[in-house]
Amino acid sequence: MLKLVDLTKTFGKLTAVDHLNLEIKDGEFFGFLGPNGAGKTTTVRMISTITAKDSGDIEVDGDSVDRNLTSVKAKIGVVPQMNNLEPEMSAWENLEVIGILYGLKKEERRQRIEELLSFIELSDRRDSLAKTYSGGMKRKLMIARALMHKPKLLLLDEPTVGLDAGARRKMWDLLKNLKNDGLTVLLTTHYIEEAEILCDRVGLINKGKMIQIDTPANLIDEVGKVVVEYFENGATQEVFFDTRDQAANYAKDIETDVRIRSSNLEDVFLKFTNRRVES
Ligand SMILES: Nc1ncnc2c1ncn2[C@@H]1O[C@H](COP(=O)(O)OP(=O)(O)OP(=O)(O)O)[C@@H](O)[C@H]1O
Ligand SMILES: [Mg+2]
Repeated sequence: MLKLVDLTKTFGKLTAVDHLNLEIKDGEFFGFLGPNGAGKTTTVRMISTITAKDSGDIEVDGDSVDRNLTSVKAKIGVVPQMNNLEPEMSAWENLEVIGILYGLKKEERRQRIEELLSFIELSDRRDSLAKTYSGGMKRKLMIARALMHKPKLLLLDEPTVGLDAGARRKMWDLLKNLKNDGLTVLLTTHYIEEAEILCDRVGLINKGKMIQIDTPANLIDEVGKVVVEYFENGATQEVFFDTRDQAANYAKDIETDVRIRSSNLEDVFLKFTNRRVES
């Protein structure tokens, strides 16, 4: 569905995206993880043709962005990192404008908007102005808007930033439903649990380069399934093992408070990027 070949973007002396290669299959839910400034948004913006690439190729569903810009645009839905709804328009009007832009007929538009508002559970707030929506409601409306023209590939740049735990879980269900309907999704997030729960595969990107790419389970296996965590010399130490027995054996000689737990995708992230995640 999506193929990136040696995709590169520089801003002056800074190489934001550096010969990035990636292939996402039809129906796959793929997660982009990486520290601030890693190049995630720049990549998403190049795929969505908002930012021009310097070099490399982008193919969406077999169409090259360079040769088939219009058909590529029709196949992609984008939810950008920053909210850009029309604040003085209602939810309905925000969707209607996009429907008109994509040339949907009046009745088709009405049906699609009804369907999407019901999907994001905002049917009863259809006439409220977007500026009066809560953060979570705005994010959901952004997703509905990106789905108006029935894209095949959905690009989501930090869809749940700023949402409370309940709203985030609801958003995850909404995204799982999209996947079950066959949509291909590329998601960036700083909530690593989100990637672990939703994504078939994740790519770790750092300084514009893909440094790891695999299923969450395989990445966790690679660092070690079990971690011994303890505090020493003013910092938390983490040592990884394949089994609980090995971990317990190591932990028994540690004199400070020690915790043995299962590894998670956040451990993978920290190990490979060597930085704490900050959103
Ligand atoms: N328009 C621009 N002009 C100059 N530099 C830019 C521009 N857009 C992005 N950059 C730089 O490119 C690098 C990658 O930025 P990008 O927004 O892609 O990171 P990101 O991975 O999305 O980070 P975050 O997690 O903070 O959203 C950063 O160093 C950023 O400052
Ligand atoms: Mg970003």
